[in-house]
Amino acid sequence: MNATQEQLKIKLEQALVAAFGDEYAGVDPILVSASNPKFGDYQANVALSLSKKLGQQPRAIASAIVEKLDVSEICEKPEIAGPGFINLKLKTAYLEAQLNTIQADTRLGVPTAKHPQREIVDFSSPNIAKEMHVGHLRSTIIGDSIARILEFRGHDVLRLNHVGDWGTQFGMLITYLREVSPEALTTANALDIGDLVSFYRQAKQRFDADEAFQETARQEVVRLQAGAADTLHAWKLLCEQSRQEFQVIYDLLDVKLTERGESFYNPLLPTVVENLEKSGLLVENQGAKCVFLDGFTNREGEPLPLIVQKSDGGYNYATTDLAALRYRIQKDEAKRIIYITDAGQANHFAQFFQVARKAGWIPDDVELVHVPFGLVLGEDGKKFKTRSGDTVRLRDLLDEAISRAHADVEVRLKAEEREETAEFIDKVAEVVGISAVKYADLSQNRTSNYIFSYDKMLDLKGNTAPYMLYAYARIQGISRKGEINFADLGDNAKVILQHETEFALAKYLLQLGEVISTVEEDLSPNRLCEYLYELSKRFNAFYDRNQGVQVLSAEEPLRTSRLVLCDLTARTLKLGLSLLGIQVLERM
Ligand code: ARG
Repeated sequence: MNATQEQLKIKLEQALVAAFGDEYAGVDPILVSASNPKFGDYQANVALSLSKKLGQQPRAIASAIVEKLDVSEICEKPEIAGPGFINLKLKTAYLEAQLNTIQADTRLGVPTAKHPQREIVDFSSPNIAKEMHVGHLRSTIIGDSIARILEFRGHDVLRLNHVGDWGTQFGMLITYLREVSPEALTTANALDIGDLVSFYRQAKQRFDADEAFQETARQEVVRLQAGAADTLHAWKLLCEQSRQEFQVIYDLLDVKLTERGESFYNPLLPTVVENLEKSGLLVENQGAKCVFLDGFTNREGEPLPLIVQKSDGGYNYATTDLAALRYRIQKDEAKRIIYITDAGQANHFAQFFQVARKAGWIPDDVELVHVPFGLVLGEDGKKFKTRSGDTVRLRDLLDEAISRAHADVEVRLKAEEREETAEFIDKVAEVVGISAVKYADLSQNRTSNYIFSYDKMLDLKGNTAPYMLYAYARIQGISRKGEINFADLGDNAKVILQHETEFALAKYLLQLGEVISTVEEDLSPNRLCEYLYELSKRFNAFYDRNQGVQVLSAEEPLRTSRLVLCDLTARTLKLGLSLLGIQVLERM
């Protein structure tokens, strides 16, 4: 609900009480946006809902309310329509004043949260020595945007990278490392083994082919868990190598993360099991320690346990998540913990959340949220792969987006007969390419699968990053052409609304705060994308030669007023895009 809506709601409630008595305090006036601009901006449906209770005709009720309703500062005279709707139309002067208010505000009227709190966003979280795949890319992009939105609202956000840096695979990797690069283990502080993913493949081949190797690998796991110095050193080298590879991607995407991998919680795992034991939840099942779950059954319909300690004494992914959860609540004092992973892990989260709740580890004021997302598919509708059938390396994927954007820019510049420097073109290509990938992901309804298509995401028309960036650059073009600095328009540049397209744009500009608070609640960046897309369309209609208005060639004071609308649109786009992790271009 935006500020105007909130005010109107209060006024309607007061009118209800004045007309029918105290008993009607707290009755919902059922205020909604008008379905058709013909009927004004808002519609209150309370008269219809009260008809039965009051034993009166809705129209009579509506009249009684309207008689006591004083909204003269905000609205034109309320009108009663149809069976008893109360229609409210915002006053032009009110809208104009609101626009001038947000113009003077760097936050464009978006308030900070009433109760800022510590929030954790657990995202990206690839696994060491394994491929960082498109699923991790989605998590990285969505998580970063959610974190940015929460930060903008004033929350204290901890962006955690729960890297998979522990587990039995290290036995194999370290054994292989000792074989192929023994000197690295004693001398080096960095590895020179090339691409870690192919190293992983080779190690795996070796592991699968040789039983003696497997045995050594198992011993290596034991040594790692026991903290043997040389094994730990090898482990650190491998992690460092992966970290560097991940960092290339994070730098390209301009994403900041604090690494706190699974290994961090290692010392806390025995306590998790002890505590579950104490709370009487632990059951031994074929040597494994587990907790039985409500609402989860296996294929045979038998109750399903969550294993927290395997029969060989080892811990697993769920144990680590339980330990992390305790740590985040107790030490980080998080009030909301948000996990961003593919929908395939939904059960994992539901299960360990349930165990933590049963164990009484989750205080009432702490919220746990799993934010699932769908798969990335190729244009053939199947799992996203390279032509040769391999998993796509993220680095290649991003480079490809940039190089295609590069080609597009060159074609466009040629068509526009423009000469630009190589630096300019490179910069535009990088911003457009990366933004296109991010935006294509964020603009989807998170939970659906989406088809990865370079052609679609780089299209200048449609709900794409280039379309939005272009709208922004176009507005900056107006300021260059008119040789006006938007920042100099000043606080007394009064907004005047006359044309239909001005009203449509103006009302939309005032909705940013509402959209952001919805996104904050639903954790759905696609709503912000929709808003920015619609805003760009409204701007283009306003600025359109035929249906719109003149801007630079308009007479004062309309000229300045319209320039303010341009500036507000550009700033809204810039702010909105920044919350999606997308940078704007002044020219493109
Ligand atoms: N490393 C995991 C994977 O690649 C994702 C971790 C998500 N975070 C968590 N706390 N479980 O699938």
